Amino acid sequence: MEPFRNEPFTNFALDHNRQTFMEALASVKAEWGKHYPLVINGKRITAGNPQPSINPSRHAQITGYVSQADHSLMDQAIEGASAAYTIWQLEKPLFRIGMLYKAAALMRRRRHWFSAWLVYEAGKTWVEADVETAEAIDFLNYYASEAERLLLHPPKLVSYPCEHNEWSYMPLGVGAVIPPWNFPLAIMAGMTAAAVVCGNTVVLKPASATPIIAYHFVSLLEEAGLPGGVVQYVPCPGSRLGDQMVTHPLVRFINFTGSMEVGLGINEKAALRRPGQRWLKRVTAELGGKDGIIVDDSADIGEAAVAVVQSAFGYSGQKCSACSRAIVHQGVYDEFLAEVVRRAGLLKVGPADAFDTNVGAVIDRAAFDKVAAYIELAAAEGTIVCGGAEQLDPSEGYYAGPTVVAGVDAQARIAQEEIFGPVLVVIRADDYAHALEIANGTPYGLTGSVFSGNRAHLELAREKFHVGNLYFNRKCTGALVGVHPFGGFDLSGTDSKAGGPDYLLQFLQAKVVTERM
Ligand code: NAD
Ligand code: ALA
Repeated sequence: MEPFRNEPFTNFALDHNRQTFMEALASVKAEWGKHYPLVINGKRITAGNPQPSINPSRHAQITGYVSQADHSLMDQAIEGASAAYTIWQLEKPLFRIGMLYKAAALMRRRRHWFSAWLVYEAGKTWVEADVETAEAIDFLNYYASEAERLLLHPPKLVSYPCEHNEWSYMPLGVGAVIPPWNFPLAIMAGMTAAAVVCGNTVVLKPASATPIIAYHFVSLLEEAGLPGGVVQYVPCPGSRLGDQMVTHPLVRFINFTGSMEVGLGINEKAALRRPGQRWLKRVTAELGGKDGIIVDDSADIGEAAVAVVQSAFGYSGQKCSACSRAIVHQGVYDEFLAEVVRRAGLLKVGPADAFDTNVGAVIDRAAFDKVAAYIELAAAEGTIVCGGAEQLDPSEGYYAGPTVVAGVDAQARIAQEEIFGPVLVVIRADDYAHALEIANGTPYGLTGSVFSGNRAHLELAREKFHVGNLYFNRKCTGALVGVHPFGGFDLSGTDSKAGGPDYLLQFLQAKVVTERM
C-alpha cells in the first residue's frame, strides 16, 4: 500500500506551465456549445429542456447545454442504482479501489483540462482552479487508500475463549449525492468516490451552475472501469427534484454539501419513514459558515492582514471556509484595518481566464444580487472602507470586487449571516476574551483562525474556539486532503471530516460475526 501524498500545485511562474495552461483553456473553449446528456444505467439519455451553463466572467458566453431529468427519469435513475447495487456491493474491494487509483491517474494526465473547465464554468482563477483539481486527485487517491485500510484490513477484535469473532464493513445501498457549485470538481468527486469505493451506488445530482464538470468526471470514472448504474448522472433543479431524491424509499443515505437552509430541510425530510422504506436514512450534511479570524494585540499585523485578505477574497469569498469576519483587538484595530484595506485595494478584479486576475466574478445573477443587497445593508450597519456599491458591475460578468466594512457590531446581520461573496466585516474586540466570545457568537462553527504571539491565548483558543477546523497564525481556507480533514460543528454540519480517516465510515455499516468453536 503506497503512502498517500498530496498532489503538488502547478508553479505558474514557469513559462512552460503558463503555456500549457493557456493551451488547455483554448482546447476547452473549442468545446463550448456541446449538449450533455444524462447518464443512467451506463446509457446517454438526451432529455428535454436543456439548460445553458454559462461563463460567470462573461455571461453571454455559453459553455454548453445540459439535459435535465424529470420525475420519471429520476425514478429510473434511482431504481437503476438499486439494481446495480446488488452486483456492485459484491465486487471485490480491490477492483473498486483500483478504479479510483486509475481515475486519479487519468485526471492527473488531464489536469489542466479539468482546471480550464473550472475557469470557464465556475469562474475560478488559474490558481484556484489548479488547487481544486489537485484536491480532486487527492480525494480519489486518499479514499482509495482509506478503503484499502478499512476494507482489506478491518479492525481486529479482542480474543475470547472458544469463539472466533470477526468485524467487517459493508456498504449501505443507494445514496443521493448532492454537491454545491463552489468546489464543483473536488467536493463533487470526493462525495461520489467515497460512497462508491465502499460498494454503494450513487445518484449524482450536480449543482445547477456547474453540471458539465460533473459530466466529465462521470465519463472519467467510466474510462477507469466504472460499470453502468453505479453512478447515475442526473442534472436537474434541486428545488424541484431534490425532495424526490431525499424521500425515495430506495435511497438509503444522503450525502449533501450546501447551504444551511437546504441542509436543514433535507435532514428533516430524511427523518420521516416513507411507505416501503426499510431503514433509517443516514444524512451527511456539510453546510455553511460565518468564519472568523481573531487578530490579537500580539499578532504580526502584516501576516494577519495577508491571511485575512486571502481567506476573505480568494474565489471571491465563495468558500464555506472563507473569512467573513475579522475580529480585531482594539489595540491593533486601526493598524490592521489600514493594512487590510491597502492589500484588498491591490487585488486585480477581472475575468478568470486572465493569468493576473486575483478576484473573478461571482457565480451567477442570484449570487450577484445577494452580494449587492448585503453591500446596501453594510452601508447602514457599518462603514464601507473599501469597495462597495460603486465597484459592482454585472454588465459583462457578475463582478463584485472586494468590499471591507468597518465598525460593525457583532450582532449585525452582515456579521451573522453567510453572504458567500467578497465582503469582509471588521469587528472591534475589547480584549482577547471578548474576541473569542464574538468568534463563537454565530450559529455556525466551520473554520476559524487566531493570529497571536501569545502561547496562552493560542491554548485558550484550542480549548474554547468552537469550530471544526481551527488554524493558528495562518489563513482559514485551503484545507488539504489527509492533512486538514474538513467539516464543521453546530449548524455548519455533521462534521464528517472530508479527507480524513473517519470519512468513509459515513458510507459503511459494521457487521460482527461470531462463530462458536
Ligand atoms: P445550495 O444549498 O443552494 O445547493 C446545494 C445543492 O443542493 C445543489 O446541488 C442544489 O441544486 C441542491 N438543492 C437545492 N435545493 C434542494 C432541495 N430542496 N433538495 C435537495 N437538493 C437541493 O448551496 P450552493 O449555493 O450550491 O453552495 C453554497 C453553500 O454550500 C454555502 O452555504 C457554502 O457554505 C456551502 N458549502 C459548504 C461546504 C462544507 O464543506 N461545509 C463546502 C462547500 C460549500
Ligand atoms: N476545504 C475548503 C477549504 O478549506 C473549503 O478552503
